[in-house]
Order: sequence, then structure tokens, then C-alpha cells
Amino acid sequence: MAKCGCRCRQKVRVGIIGPGGVGADRAQKLNAEPNCEVVAACDVDEKRIEDLRKRCGKKDIKAYLGPNGYKEMIKREDLQAVGVFGPHSLHHAHAKLALEHDCHILIEKPMANGVAKAVELYKLARKKKRVLLIHYQRHFEPVYVTARRLLSKGIIGKLRHFYCYMAQDYRIVGGWRLVNKISGGGQINDSGSHYQDIMIWMTGLMPLRACGATDKYMDGKLHDIELNSSHHVWFEKGLTGRIVIMGDYLDGFVDDVIIEGDKGTLKLTGGKIVLRKDGRVRELPMDVPKDWPKDPCNNFAGLLDGRYKENCVDGILGARVSMLTETLLESGRTRKTVECKDILARDGLTYRDIR
Ligand SMILES: NC(=O)c1ccc[n+]([C@@H]2O[C@H](COP(=O)([O-])OP(=O)(O)OC[C@H]3O[C@@H](n4cnc5c(N)ncnc54)[C@H](O)[C@@H]3O)[C@@H](O)[C@H]2O)c1
Repeated sequence: MAKCGCRCRQKVRVGIIGPGGVGADRAQKLNAEPNCEVVAACDVDEKRIEDLRKRCGKKDIKAYLGPNGYKEMIKREDLQAVGVFGPHSLHHAHAKLALEHDCHILIEKPMANGVAKAVELYKLARKKKRVLLIHYQRHFEPVYVTARRLLSKGIIGKLRHFYCYMAQDYRIVGGWRLVNKISGGGQINDSGSHYQDIMIWMTGLMPLRACGATDKYMDGKLHDIELNSSHHVWFEKGLTGRIVIMGDYLDGFVDDVIIEGDKGTLKLTGGKIVLRKDGRVRELPMDVPKDWPKDPCNNFAGLLDGRYKENCVDGILGARVSMLTETLLESGRTRKTVECKDILARDGLTYRDIR
């Protein structure tokens, strides 16, 4: 727990930026952690803060309103932690100021729009020795935790090929998400960010280049944002495959991840892991280590009072994902094969900055 200088132990004072659709849920979970207390929140919509107070059962959450409310909140509230849950284009400014004020950060995905901003946040957190944890909840879901462990143990041998597909009905989505300068890359940068992340996280491999197409059509209309994409992606160590991200989809949310090695194939679908190996197909039991955090909020809070040592979604992953997202978007725009190293070089970066 944060120490106040005397013998008593105080709770970590948490400020929330953007307690909207998911922000209020994350804030409620943080507030339920034994060592955290949500003391303040800022939003451009006062109703969101009223709703947050109700959800947390805390009338005394202090409200800061307007687009600059976060500056006042960070300046006045003596916070030790900040939850960054606003629209994508604002993540960088919100998290940067909070880090400059020595706060630990729990941040929604994507960590930042563009690799340069993501690397800046990651490096600042490291310099300040603060926790920077991204809310990629798949790092806590049994199917992905188990698959990652099995892959690292070599259950399917050397990784050769993959197929990673997600589709979500984006017609129910409105507001800032449909405005490219705020969303920063449509569905590829939104739910698609999760699937770029799990490929990087589960395989432990760095993306090298991508070649593919994007389009902005949904329901027969042209939109401002990239909604659909299909790319061939090359990773290190000879792994190649396809990442398909769809927003123009008619029925809820589906995904399908298949990874093929030289000794077998692992298929993650419908919350199950299916192994095809030695002529047999079988579903594998899920196995999450006993001491694995239950979700990103629990991991974040536990890192602050020593219950956990490992940040399961460190900011460096956000930088790697932002690099891949930019590469996919650039390839979609130019219809050419785009090298990740060239995307890094545009901002004066190299792979060394994200290893
Ligand atoms: N991990 C997941 O599965 C998941 C799911 C949904 C959303 N998200 C992410 O959560 C974030 C928020 O998405 P959402 O669906 O909750 O959106 P939302 O629009 O419901 O919430 C955003 C909140 O930010 C507020 N806001 C806007 N401008 C602001 C400003 N200048 N200062 C302070 N507050 C401001 C809005 O009023 C709103 O309350 C995004 O990064 C999104 O990608 C993650």
C-alpha cells in the first residue's frame, strides 16, 4: 500500500479519467481492491461521474469536469494512481501528465495512437519506476494463459503459421469511435488491438512486416475509419500468417485463432483449446497458475502493495502493438508490404526501443 510517512498505512488514492462504458467498470473493480480507493474522477459528461458514484457506493468521489478537468484533478488530488479510460486519441496526454506527477497508470487499450507516443509512455513509466499496465484482459483468461504456456513449452514444436480472426458488429458503435482523428485507426486500433496483442504475447515473437488491405465500408456506406482488414504478417523466427479484423459483421462478436507448428496445431475458439497432434484431435484442460491475477485491475492493485511481482501486461507490449497497428494501417493505405522497422524509423526508433 502507499505509505503516508507515519506508521499507519493509507489506501492508494486513485483518480479516474473517463469513467464511461468500461471506465466505470474498471473504477468499480479498483475501488473494490483492499488497497485502493477511487477519490476523484474527471469527464466531459457530469452524468458519467454521478453514475460512477452510484456504482462505487461513494458519494464523495470528487468531480472534475471538462476536457482540462484531468489537469486539475492530477494537480490537486495527491493521487498515487490514475485510470486512463477515455477515447483513444486522449490516452497519451492523459497518461503522460499522470506519469509526470509520479502516478501509476492502468490504461485501456490501445495504449496510444502510434508507436512514438506509446514508446514515450513506456519509457517515462520505466524512468519514473511506475507501473504502467494495459487493460488487455485476455492475459488473464484461461484460454490464452494456457495456450501461451503450452506454446512456450513447445507443445506444437516450432511455430510456422497462424490464422487470427476477429469480427464484431460495429453498427452498434457510435460517437468518437467513428471519427478517425479520435479513434486513430478504426476497428484495427480498437478491438483489433486485442488480437495483435495476443499474437505478440502468446508467441513471444516480434512482428517484422505486413502486407494487406483495409477498407472503410459498413452496411454499404463509406465511413471515416478503417473497419475491415486482412493482412499477411511476418513474425520473427519464420512464423507467418493472417490477421483478419472485421467491423462490418452482422452478428455480435466472434474470433478464431489457429497456430500451426511443425509438430501439431493449436486452435483457440469458443473459449476452448483444441490440439491436433499425432493424428488425434482433443480438447485440452485450461490451467491457470494459482497465483495468476484474476484481471488487469487486480494485477494493477496487487503490484502496488506487493501481492504480485509480475506486471502481466506491461507498457512495452502496448508499444509493440502500436508498431504493428501502424504497419497494418500503412500497408492498407499504400497496398504495399510495409516493414515494421521503417515504421519505427519514421519516429527515429529501432527495435531496441521496444525490446
Ligand atoms: N478492454 C476492452 O475489452 C475494452 C472494451 C471497450 C472499450 N475499451 C476501451 O476503453 C476506452 C473507452 O471506451 P468506452 O467504450 O468506455 O468509451 P465511452 O465513450 O463509453 O467512454 C469514454 C469516456 O470518456 C469521456 N471523455 C471524453 N472526452 C474526455 C475528456 N477530454 N476528458 C475526460 N473524459 C472524457 C466520455 O464522456 C466517456 O465517459 C477506449 O480506449 C476503448 O478502446 C476496452
